[in-house]
Amino acid sequence: MLLTDDAPLVTPAADPAFLRDILHGLSQQPKATPPIWFYDRRGSELFEAITQLPEYYPTQTETALLASHGADFATAVGRGRAVVEFGAGSARKTPHLLRAIDPCAYVPIDISGDYLLASSAALEMAFPGLTVLPLVGDFNAALTLPTAIGGMARLGFFPGSTIGNLEPDGAVDLLRAMRRLLGDDAMLMIGMDRVKDSDRMIAAYDDAAGVTAAFNRNLLARINHELEGDIPLDAFVHRAVWNDDKARIEMHLEAVKPLRFKVAGQDFSMEAGETIHTESSHKYGPRDSRLLLRSGHWEPVREWTDDEGLFSLILAQAA
Ligand code: AVJ
Repeated sequence: MLLTDDAPLVTPAADPAFLRDILHGLSQQPKATPPIWFYDRRGSELFEAITQLPEYYPTQTETALLASHGADFATAVGRGRAVVEFGAGSARKTPHLLRAIDPCAYVPIDISGDYLLASSAALEMAFPGLTVLPLVGDFNAALTLPTAIGGMARLGFFPGSTIGNLEPDGAVDLLRAMRRLLGDDAMLMIGMDRVKDSDRMIAAYDDAAGVTAAFNRNLLARINHELEGDIPLDAFVHRAVWNDDKARIEMHLEAVKPLRFKVAGQDFSMEAGETIHTESSHKYGPRDSRLLLRSGHWEPVREWTDDEGLFSLILAQAA
């Protein structure tokens, strides 16, 4: 068949899990949607742009820690493990770790197949002799590791403070699932963002260039495209607030006026000032992070942080 310039694009079938989560989240009081749905192609690009922002200290800080403590990693982790990365995305921090510990295999896991396959190919080129076995999937669901890494001791790699997206009970469940998946000899290298001055944290989630605002609002654009929505994007403003009681940054989309809209044929309304809570990013102090890891059946063995104590990189051993 010939496609002409004005041929209509066929809308791919909506992801049923996306549809379910959004209809459920918009029906709740207060409205809240899971952050995994930020990461369509555009959302992944916007997140990459966030990681380059001057205000977004987590990526800069964690990357510097990975780049400067290779000798420690080599001693503490040793060679020949299989590295399993959870939520690999563009995997830009990974080369520092791989160079330091010289693993036998690398298994990056991510829900965004596009990004995963591109970054896997690049790593294979950069590390000849390393077996790269990408796994497309949601690491919050049940996973099976490739049989090719059957006999190898594993190192889980979970950078970026992605654990912070989960409520504490969900974080503990995930850590325990990783412990079961990775086995008795496993180690885990995990990044956690620390509690700090609230202005510093808020600036990281409400940057001057408006990239985080665009990332947040892109969820509405995605709902409109993929779930037949008619949400008026310009009727929402981005909000980043520090919830001190729960030690987390919350991102919200706030309706600036009373609204009615449809998603997949279902009607929704919002009052002026009402929000959709789109993400939580929990922060952990040094004792908090150790408590969380131990609850998740991991015993912390080393911790690295920067001069300002902004971010922690923690190595733990299966308990
Ligand atoms: C990818 C979940 C670690 O919480 O800092 C960045 C996502 N959201 N800016 C974070 C995010 C807004 C990020 N994580």
